[in-house]
Amino acid sequence: MDTSTSIVIFGASGDLTWRKLIPALYNNFKKGRLHDCANIVGFARRDWSDEFFQTRLREGVEKFSADTFDQAIWDDFTTRLHYFRGNLTKADDFERLDDYLHQLDNKQNPVIASEAKQSPSQTAEIASSQKNAPRNDSAAANRLYYLATAPSFYGSTANYLGEAQMTTQEEGWRRIIIEKPFGRDLASAEELNAAVHAAFEESQVYRIDHYLGKETAQNILFFRFANTIFEPIWNRRYVNSVQISVAESVEVGERAGYYDKSGVLRDMFQNHLFQLLALVAMESPASFNADAIRNEKAKVFQSIRPVDLNDTVLAQYEGYCETEGVAPDSRTPTYAALKLFIDNWRWQGVPFYLRSGKALKHKNTEIIIEFQRPPHLMFDLPAGNDFTPNVLSICIQPDEGIHLRFEAKVPDSDQDMRSVNMEFHYDESFDGTPIPEAYERLLLEALDGDASLFTRADEIEAAWRAIDPVINGWADRSHPKLATHQKGEWGPQAATDLLARDGHRWRFGCVEHRLS
Ligand code: BG6
Repeated sequence: MDTSTSIVIFGASGDLTWRKLIPALYNNFKKGRLHDCANIVGFARRDWSDEFFQTRLREGVEKFSADTFDQAIWDDFTTRLHYFRGNLTKADDFERLDDYLHQLDNKQNPVIASEAKQSPSQTAEIASSQKNAPRNDSAAANRLYYLATAPSFYGSTANYLGEAQMTTQEEGWRRIIIEKPFGRDLASAEELNAAVHAAFEESQVYRIDHYLGKETAQNILFFRFANTIFEPIWNRRYVNSVQISVAESVEVGERAGYYDKSGVLRDMFQNHLFQLLALVAMESPASFNADAIRNEKAKVFQSIRPVDLNDTVLAQYEGYCETEGVAPDSRTPTYAALKLFIDNWRWQGVPFYLRSGKALKHKNTEIIIEFQRPPHLMFDLPAGNDFTPNVLSICIQPDEGIHLRFEAKVPDSDQDMRSVNMEFHYDESFDGTPIPEAYERLLLEALDGDASLFTRADEIEAAWRAIDPVINGWADRSHPKLATHQKGEWGPQAATDLLARDGHRWRFGCVEHRLS
């Protein structure tokens, strides 16, 4: 079957398109993975020409993917880039867009193209006569819509696409990718899901969480389920606690306007940290299929015990309120740490400690599995020497890899022991093969129709259901004041105390290794 696929990016003049989407598409093109993708159409309000759009996008690729930029390949890629000036709030503009896409499809069709060559004046005529006509059985014109707009346009854009009959699948598939944030609480997420479902079937919807596109996040399922040695101990009998840390060294910067209305729980926990949590905690799916995987992830969110507010710490880095765009008396948390439990047989009683913040000491995303102490220890520990349990660190970024710490006897000693490290690093094991940007994989998967790396409606809602009470609990001003911490620290003292209460401490498996 001849196929031509058009990707339409709504919000094409924005940062995401320039910084992430086009570099990702360009890199996929360079790797020969976009055979069917005939057109990439940027939809935005600005009065730009195709040439201006292409030049701007080239600058983006040169800047954000400098290592892979190649002028000859760009010249080929750029022939697919088109700009369509339109307004997201005008139904007519969606109709015009649909006509335009049909014209582009027809250009891909050799019969139409050769007829058009004979008589340029016929081009528009042919295009319009084709508009609502079913295409030749041997051809399919697919469409991938990407909502890279402000979130307030997600529901209405889906609605306009539906009204313009741009979501029906007679002439090829129709899919929609929706950027985060997907709602700002359970009610708004439900509302948005309802709006999207009025125009698209759930199977057509691809909700982005770029953490799922990260190689190291994808590797969690391979690590757990393509090996036999870890899964038997991946439960409450052997695991003492789990930590998930997503530390960022950047401040809120130019995103303050958005961030101050959002805060770390919405910006990072409901999506990224919870997705990592699900990958670590889920049961084994029966197959590597989108619904099988997402069924298991949804069950994790549904099993989260309501979080006790006493097990939460929220904080702001000092100086946050002086950032342009932040309210001077803002109580928006830039840091959060919390303890939660998953009420099922596998994880009963195992604390999961999650933390994330901005303006912290280093960028570091890692998952730590701390195992139980041996049931009986026959070795003498030197006085004051605490026993170190086995610790498995899954380093998501920046130093991607996996470390396992275990105890070893110090040579030439009687029974001294020390923790040593067994390591896997991507760059060493895979000969320096660069780890692709998350958006590269995500765009490919959506083009391929595989939604495993995208979040489903029920997952999103279950995640909001778990985090909303924490956000609401803290919104109540009678709750203790936000903690503060200095920039460049690992967070507030209260977060250290949260674990110390349980006899734990935050671990830095990957960072310790990197800095040692
Ligand atoms: C985004 C958040 O979703 O993820 C940002 O909105 C955050 O605030 C970013 O900085 C972190 O992503 P990464 O890939 O740099 O860890």
